[in-house]
Amino acid sequence: MTADLVVVGSGLFGLTIAERAANDLGLRVALIDRRDHIGGNAYSENDPTTGIEVHKYGAHLFHTSNERVWEYVNRFTTFTNYVHKVYTSHKGEVYPMPVNLGTINQFFRSAYSPTEARALIAEQAAELGDKVPENFVEKGISLIGRPLYEAFIKHYTAKQWQTDPEQLEASIISRLPVRYTYDNRYFSDTHEGLPTDGYAAWLERMADHPLIDVRLGTDFFDTGQEINRENVRGSVPVVYTGPVDRYFDYSEGELGWRTIDLEAEVLPIEDFQGTSVMNYPDEDVPFTRIHEFRHFHPERNYTKDATIIMREYSRFAHRDDEPYYPINTDADRDGLLKYRDQAKAEPNVLFGGRLGTYKYLDMHMAIGSALSMFDNKIRPHFAEGAALE
Ligand code: FAD
Ligand code: NA
Repeated sequence: MTADLVVVGSGLFGLTIAERAANDLGLRVALIDRRDHIGGNAYSENDPTTGIEVHKYGAHLFHTSNERVWEYVNRFTTFTNYVHKVYTSHKGEVYPMPVNLGTINQFFRSAYSPTEARALIAEQAAELGDKVPENFVEKGISLIGRPLYEAFIKHYTAKQWQTDPEQLEASIISRLPVRYTYDNRYFSDTHEGLPTDGYAAWLERMADHPLIDVRLGTDFFDTGQEINRENVRGSVPVVYTGPVDRYFDYSEGELGWRTIDLEAEVLPIEDFQGTSVMNYPDEDVPFTRIHEFRHFHPERNYTKDATIIMREYSRFAHRDDEPYYPINTDADRDGLLKYRDQAKAEPNVLFGGRLGTYKYLDMHMAIGSALSMFDNKIRPHFAEGAALE
């Protein structure tokens, strides 16, 4: 094996490290992934029936206010001017999200000014008086008042967590944004858009370098592989972006994750819902939302004969599921601290990314954090001989 650096996981964190190490330091990088494609969860592919680009692991919207990240990603792709908006279908009526003046006025059949709406929500949120919220429901009410909370948040969150909302901890929410304007742009970052020729093309360009040796279908823990944990341990530097508990054989217990199930359906119509994401916050609907992928690229000439939608269901992840969102119970936090100590002590291995740090990271955060690791640890090690820790 002739790699100077092994990168485990080809999501945006691993890709950024591999790209910088090859392009900036001239290192030979082995980039391994157990999946049969690069790109991690940001990967997309064109649905064979309709030709519509589908985000395989759930809808991915790129947005950032970090100028360094924006400059970096633009080396590999341009972005469209797509602006994300979300709607929600509650009891047979569709409202704009997140809760804004339009939502409030439609819900209360009124024409409140921003000041009037603020006063109304403050009055409704005061329902519990001085009582400290004891669970998720009380916390929600204390933030936006009972009517809006029960309509748009309560059952939606319960479905996400598959838990009775009375049993959920208040700490799940610290704030619920309410906008007292009609602005329903979902993100408020400086830059937003979707990769013009798709996620796969962007991600593949990052790995397209003669010094980057991409090895797909390769699990780092499979000792039958040429590169694996056992035979690189202590000798070849590793950036590991898989689950941190898995690396240490779950010695401190399993960290809890939620996952989602996506159910795709091709329909013989041009347009199913008129927008890319529709939330379903009601208790009697089993899924949380429906994605319709054609709407992410209105500038493309997609077929008018068919559309592809995906219903999204949320649940706790088992060991064999894809871990998506950290649950972060007290036990998880305890376990994480112990894993962090082990990670620090593990010679020549840096842990990064969403799974390696047990932290939800948006794409721009994963890229930004990888650029920092490159500057602060990888370059000093290879260029100046600093220890890798
Ligand atoms: P990942 O993309 O998860 O990549 C980790 C890689 O490591 C995977 O390819 C995995 O196969 C590989 N791996 C794991 N274990 C091993 C092993 N033992 N051996 C070899 N390879 C291994 N971000 C946004 O900015 N906007 C969004 O709208 C958005 N939506 C999201 C929706 C969902 C459902 C999820 C889960 C994430 C979303 N993200 C979004 C976050 C985005 O996907 C992350 O930025 C990105 O996943 C972080 O990249 P990463 O490299 O840390 O992890
Ligand atoms: Na280490």
